[in-house]
Amino acid sequence: MANKSRYEELKQKIHFHNHRYHVMDSPIISDAEFDKLLNELKRIEAEHPDWITADSPTRRAGAKPADRFDKVRHPAPILSLANAFGADDARAWLERVSKIDDRVEKAKFVVEPKIDGLSVVLHYRDGVFMQGATRGDGEVGEDITQNLRTIRAIPLRIPVASQKSKVGGRPVTFDLRPPKYLVIRGEAFMPVKEFEELNRKLEEAGEKTYQNPRNTAAGSLRQLDPELTASRPLTILVYQIVHSEGGKVPASQWEILEYLKALGFPVTDIAKRFDDFEKAIAYTESWEKKRDDLSYETDGMVIKIDDLTLAAELGFVGKDPRGAIAFKFPAREVTTTLNDIGVAVGRTGVLTPYAVLEAVEIGGVIVERATLHNFDYIAEKDIRVGDRVLVKRAGEVIPYVIGPVVDARKGKEKKYKPPTKCPACGQDVEHFEGEVAWYCVNAACPAQLVRNIEHFVSRGAMDIEGLGSELVKILIDSDLVKDVADIFKLTKEDLAIINEELTRRRRAKNPPKNPVKVTKRKEPEKRPEKLLIAISASKNKPLPKLIIGLGIRGVGEVMASDLSEKFTDLDSLANAKFDALMEIEGVGPSIAESVVDWFSRPFNKQVLRKLKTAGVWPKGEKKSARKEGALTGLTFVVTGTLPTLSRDGVKEFIESNGGKVTDSVSKNTGYLVLGENPGSKFEKAKSLGVKIIDENELRKIAK
Ligand code: IVH
Repeated sequence: MANKSRYEELKQKIHFHNHRYHVMDSPIISDAEFDKLLNELKRIEAEHPDWITADSPTRRAGAKPADRFDKVRHPAPILSLANAFGADDARAWLERVSKIDDRVEKAKFVVEPKIDGLSVVLHYRDGVFMQGATRGDGEVGEDITQNLRTIRAIPLRIPVASQKSKVGGRPVTFDLRPPKYLVIRGEAFMPVKEFEELNRKLEEAGEKTYQNPRNTAAGSLRQLDPELTASRPLTILVYQIVHSEGGKVPASQWEILEYLKALGFPVTDIAKRFDDFEKAIAYTESWEKKRDDLSYETDGMVIKIDDLTLAAELGFVGKDPRGAIAFKFPAREVTTTLNDIGVAVGRTGVLTPYAVLEAVEIGGVIVERATLHNFDYIAEKDIRVGDRVLVKRAGEVIPYVIGPVVDARKGKEKKYKPPTKCPACGQDVEHFEGEVAWYCVNAACPAQLVRNIEHFVSRGAMDIEGLGSELVKILIDSDLVKDVADIFKLTKEDLAIINEELTRRRRAKNPPKNPVKVTKRKEPEKRPEKLLIAISASKNKPLPKLIIGLGIRGVGEVMASDLSEKFTDLDSLANAKFDALMEIEGVGPSIAESVVDWFSRPFNKQVLRKLKTAGVWPKGEKKSARKEGALTGLTFVVTGTLPTLSRDGVKEFIESNGGKVTDSVSKNTGYLVLGENPGSKFEKAKSLGVKIIDENELRKIAK
């Protein structure tokens, strides 16, 4: 029989570990250990349903869908913010408020990120989360308590256990018995990575995707089924005490942030306090450049007068308090007109639609083209030629069309029909069962040929230095190259001709300003010779590089090297049966099928014959028994850039210690080795509970 003190202890422990995981981002127990605690709690609650309180960690999920949301009157107005567009605007704000009250001249300022999410209001009575509401009109919001309970970063009880003594290593001077009634405000949001992952899943399931993290967060919270909210990766950062009764709370914004953090709330870790307004502006502007480093979307920073009494005394203009200003970053989502839809043909023959836009500036760059992803996307979003469209350009991402502004339609917009013929070669396009993409399957299609050859000669494949895109196009235009194997037939004379053509084209594009004094490029006459040497040298590239160069769908670096271990030349790979391919770890049906399909095509068979004749026929090394070592029996996946080891280097390191490296994360993956700027493998590993280590830890395990 369980006893009540164990029950209380379990609740505290779970709150604590929940906080470590969801708020501090640094768990100290494994998921399995956490589940064990939670299961014990559930068992006790099944035996003693009368013990269950509103703050039990089991009360996060399981609430029934509501019929409607009740209204909640906020205990104080939930205000908005006035905007400043740029530093001068912000200075003008300071000047205005300084005129109202000269204490502003000596004021301190707190700078915080302006999170692009949904503003929510959380009510705690005696430290227990009782109610949560949307902002609504600022006076009355909607009761979304059950939905908010599912957000694990929201403490169900404050202060969170064991947070009593220190904040960020410093002893806390606050009274951590919270007021009897405490109402705080924060921004609920979905981190960008999670948003992208969710959209990817929705797309895979053939469901409607969301436009941006903000809409997704709002949509997930303002719907009636808490189960759905629970399935959405939402989190929160809090920044304001709206109201309190029966207890003292700090009177400065900086201390409020520290106080809320000490109570166990998630608070931004990039807020800073400044004595000097210019420094506050400089800090704000520094985040404009770094906004993509944040896990969430921001549309600016908020500059707040630290002294909240002074800020309150400054009053408001409408719903905007004078004591703070939103310093907005340039918008990265703008609307413009979709003038046309073009279609590009990729290396594998995939037809990709792109938007031809009325030129528009987004974040300081003129954008005239944007991706439309694929034809299903156009249909799903009902994007029509002539539409006003919402276009986004963020960080390194290629600008893309989010969707049409339906309300701006005038009736002249035209529905789009995907092409039935390849725009580059005119042949019929094909669609494969289960895939979104349309393909041009004509292997001799000139558009594909350019990309194929560019890929073949690229650094990761045959690495033929000096054969850039311009030369590749000339080689194809002049009919000297009809497939990758033709590269090895090129003579010095051929290369001299194309070199001349290259010089001619460059001149035509960029005529010298002073026709008498022609500036010489770096020894262009040596180019043919150098190219010939590079081509000849590439014949000795190892088999995996040649396999990569062939551009078989789904066969990247790791897969190419796995294939060349089992099939030691292109003859044996060409004869490989589906089942034999499936025996290789990391090869699924889709890759196996794509390999078989590639080698079955007559055009490719001919390319292989020509490569063999040209002497481009490396032999792979059948790996004898795998090396034994500390990593024997373990499978690794690597993502991101590691501090010291290169891609090849880490593979070699793992293999020389007996381990195995695969391309994709599955439940059989032993470890994910995580570097900087990881890809989607990181998310997948987290979701499958795969252990995540860095390069240092890898070295330790290998010892
Ligand atoms: S302060 C008096 N701080 O931005 C307090 N707002 O454009 C006024 N927001 O409605 C709000 N991050 O929903 C504040 N660190 C932050 C914020 C923030 C996001 C939102 C908030 C507000 C909107 C104003």
